[in-house]
Amino acid sequence: MADVYESLLGNSLGRSLLSTLNLPVPAVLERYSPEQSHFLSGKVLVGAASGSVLSETLLNTLKQASASLWTPSNLSENVNLEQLALKLGMPLQSAGEGQAEQRYKAVVFDATGISRSEQARELYDFLHPVIRNLESSARVVILGLAPDSLKSQPRARLAQFGLEGLVRSIAKEVGKRGATCNLIYTTKAAAKLTESALRFFLSPRSAFVDGQIVTVGKGAALPENLDWNAPLKGKTALVTGASRGIGEAIAKTLARDGAKVICLDIPQAQDALKQVAAAIGGETLEMDISTPEAAGQIAEALKTRFDGIDIVVHNAGITRDKTLGGMPAHYWEQVVNINLSAIERINDALLASAVLNEQGRIVCVSSMSGIAGNFGQTNYAYSKSGVIGLVQAWAPELAQKQITINAVAPGFIETQMTAAIPLATREIGRRLNSLKQGGQPVDVAEAIAFFASPASSGITGNTIRVCGQNLLGA
Ligand SMILES: NC(=O)c1ccc[n+]([C@@H]2O[C@H](COP(=O)([O-])OP(=O)(O)OC[C@H]3O[C@@H](n4cnc5c(N)ncnc54)[C@H](O)[C@@H]3O)[C@@H](O)[C@H]2O)c1
Repeated sequence: MADVYESLLGNSLGRSLLSTLNLPVPAVLERYSPEQSHFLSGKVLVGAASGSVLSETLLNTLKQASASLWTPSNLSENVNLEQLALKLGMPLQSAGEGQAEQRYKAVVFDATGISRSEQARELYDFLHPVIRNLESSARVVILGLAPDSLKSQPRARLAQFGLEGLVRSIAKEVGKRGATCNLIYTTKAAAKLTESALRFFLSPRSAFVDGQIVTVGKGAALPENLDWNAPLKGKTALVTGASRGIGEAIAKTLARDGAKVICLDIPQAQDALKQVAAAIGGETLEMDISTPEAAGQIAEALKTRFDGIDIVVHNAGITRDKTLGGMPAHYWEQVVNINLSAIERINDALLASAVLNEQGRIVCVSSMSGIAGNFGQTNYAYSKSGVIGLVQAWAPELAQKQITINAVAPGFIETQMTAAIPLATREIGRRLNSLKQGGQPVDVAEAIAFFASPASSGITGNTIRVCGQNLLGA
């Protein structure tokens, strides 16, 4: 059945009708295209709290954007970003009195210096005059110190912890313009490794990632001369469930970023799988991951046919919905087996046979259902919550081999899976987020590419939601 709401949104008359009826009219989100050589362009306002430690990394990153940089005149007198910019040889203009009239494409604040709650006023003073004047699809990014790294400093710890609530609330205020707000936590020692997260959150690659927190810790140094437009050049990636939907978008996005992609799916999907692989110069692996022998066969194929692997994306997944009382046992078995146990078996086989190369990347696909729960999805929610647990459980162990493991938790994404939901439920699912729309498969793929990047070596054990800040499980 044609989606009436979507077709009304597709023309100006329909949009003004919906607006008159007070129904949500979502902004058109800007998305990344390879023609954009810079990750960010337009006017950017930068600020910092006194005592902050990330300003140099922040300015060095922004230096590579095609942006005009501004700083307000009301920062604490201990902060001198203009002097630092001068030292780094980059122009930084004072926004002066008229800053409230300016419209910004991005607003970034280094809050790492906030060491007591009273000092958070510096954040308010920076954001208050400008928060209403963001461009559409603008970015607000806050940098903080990971509260867990401040265990011996309770006042600083809680002052930093407060940033979570602030960021999630700003995201709700700015979402109607397609703007997002996200938080990067780090430690002083990992300051330089925040560049990858900064670029992701500031760029159109994070169009549907909103109200999220990424924690950056220790990791391998940034590769020299990294080509940020093709960061995966020379890498080989395996993507499960790659014949359609989100998996197809992941395969195409990783290939766009330079990787050679091995596309895996069940033998029944081989025609579509071959098409996806052919379009990106990739290879195919026809395999049903639910069988006990599949993991060993995958490890063997990767070793003999492809000389190991750098990136593994566990995307294949199924739903078999029923209330728990009405659920046959095989529904439970199938879902938990494919969505969770198969990931464990494949990881075990790849690690046991040393097929996953040094500095490897594992990225798993969870779901909002695994965070908020969902009616009729006890099996699915168990498996997707388990994926988040898996990532947290394995991160410390894999860190010893410089392998990272992270997850994305998609919300409502426009795929065949969600097109099958009845219209009314679908409309509610699609609009119940700060951006008032469903995401695209590429939005999930961009978040996965961010985790897969060699520049993301300090990011492990994280789960980020790709859900436009879904109101459920927030
Ligand atoms: N679409 C959404 O809104 C949404 C939301 C949250 C999470 N997810 C998750 O994202 C992932 C992809 O979802 P999608 O919407 O693209 O689904 P989809 O059904 O369109 O694609 C899933 C793919 O996995 C493959 N697959 C299933 N079982 C397999 C097996 N045993 N062996 C190998 N391949 C197998 C399928 O053939 C298919 O190509 C899934 O893990 C899903 O749970 C999707």
